Formats: sequence, C-alpha cells, structure tokens
Amino acid sequence: MIIAIDGPAGSGKSTVARMVAEKLGFYFLNTGSFYRAYTLSALDRGIDPLDREKVLENAQSIKLSVQDGAVCIDGKNEEARLHTPLVDRYASQVSSDPRIREMVNRSVRKIAEGLDIVTEGRDTTTIVFPNADYRFYFDASPEVRAERRLADQKDTDYESVLKSILERDKMDREKAVGALKIADGAIVIDTSLLTLNQVCEKVLSALRNTSA
Ligand code: DC
Repeated sequence: MIIAIDGPAGSGKSTVARMVAEKLGFYFLNTGSFYRAYTLSALDRGIDPLDREKVLENAQSIKLSVQDGAVCIDGKNEEARLHTPLVDRYASQVSSDPRIREMVNRSVRKIAEGLDIVTEGRDTTTIVFPNADYRFYFDASPEVRAERRLADQKDTDYESVLKSILERDKMDREKAVGALKIADGAIVIDTSLLTLNQVCEKVLSALRNTSA
C-alpha cells in the first residue's frame, strides 16, 4: 500500500509521514532526501550546484540507495549530512532539473515496489505516485510555517524566514515539472491550528474511514 503526502515546506508532512509510518509499521520514504543527496554529492566534489550539466553528469555517476531508512551515496550512509544550510540552499535548484527529477522518481518507485510505504514530498501525489492508495495534501499559512521553521533554526529572525518561505513557495509552484499543486481527489488537511499528533490522528482516521 502506498500513502503519499504532498504540500509546501513547513506544512508538517515530513514529521507526520514518519509518525504515520511508525504507527502502521510501514516503510517511511522521504523523497526530498534524494534531491539533497545529489546536491551534497555535487558540493563534495567541488561542482557548482547551479551548473546543471555537471550536476547531472555527477548524479549519473553515483548510486543512491536507502539502507535502514538512511540515504547512502555509493554505499556510504550520508543521512546526517543532508540537512546542512548549504544543502538546504541548493537542493531546490537541483530539484528543478526535470532530468534529475526523472532519476529520483525512478529510484523512489523502484524502492516502493512491493512495500507498504508512507512517502512524502512535493509531487508525490501528482507525478511520482498519482495512483497511490491514499493521497494527502497538507497546507498551513505562510506565517505559521515561518514560525515552525524559526523554532528549528538559530541565527535568523521571523521576517527573513517568512520571506524565504514565500520565495520558496513561488519557486515550487512555478517549477516546469513537479510543481506544487493539489492533486484531484487528494484529502486536504490544513495543519495551521493543529498539533502534529492531531494531524497524525486525522490521517489515521481518514485511512479508517475511506477504503483504498
Ligand atoms: O522536503 P525537503 O526540504 O527535504 O526537500 C529538499 C528539496 O527538494 C526542496 O527544495 C524541495 C525539493 N523536493 C522536490 O522538488 N520534490 C520532492 N518530491 C521532494 C523535495
């Protein structure tokens, strides 16, 4: 069974997807980690992450895999290095290349074969798994999402975080391929005024009340 959760940054999809996977005993697959891994590998090799051809060439020369939930580059667990500010900064640009997106989508679908998974990411309900058994779209106001991000980050302020969220939303919505949008038939949950546990409960209750 595939449960896919889509939505903008800070909507809670990553944390809730992990919680739902744990409750159901399903495999958790974070698609953003693949874009982050291609970005990290390019940076490690001194490649300018904005040089699309070099980034693609590098991506084609390495092998990404997932072991015990951790993303590995050529067999080496790199999960702990995927969330640095530098990777944060460039992953969005790397993910805007449709050729890289195709590579990630192929890997993700292959990993999902025959598994019960909860997956999350921006296009998982529209492009990666349009036929997932359950599709959710989480949303929250930009102000709430900025406050959530601020709680995770030091050395910044509310106004800069809000500005970067609005810029990132615009970039994600305007992507030529894999843009952020609500899939037809997806269950929409506004998480603005809910705790993570409440969102998780809403997902589980939707699963109980709707047959796949
Ligand atoms: O969810 P995240 O922050 O780990 O994602 C990293 C980057 O990859 C982010 O810029 C959004 C992008 N992404 C995407 O374009 N499509 C996905 N399915 C998942 C992430």
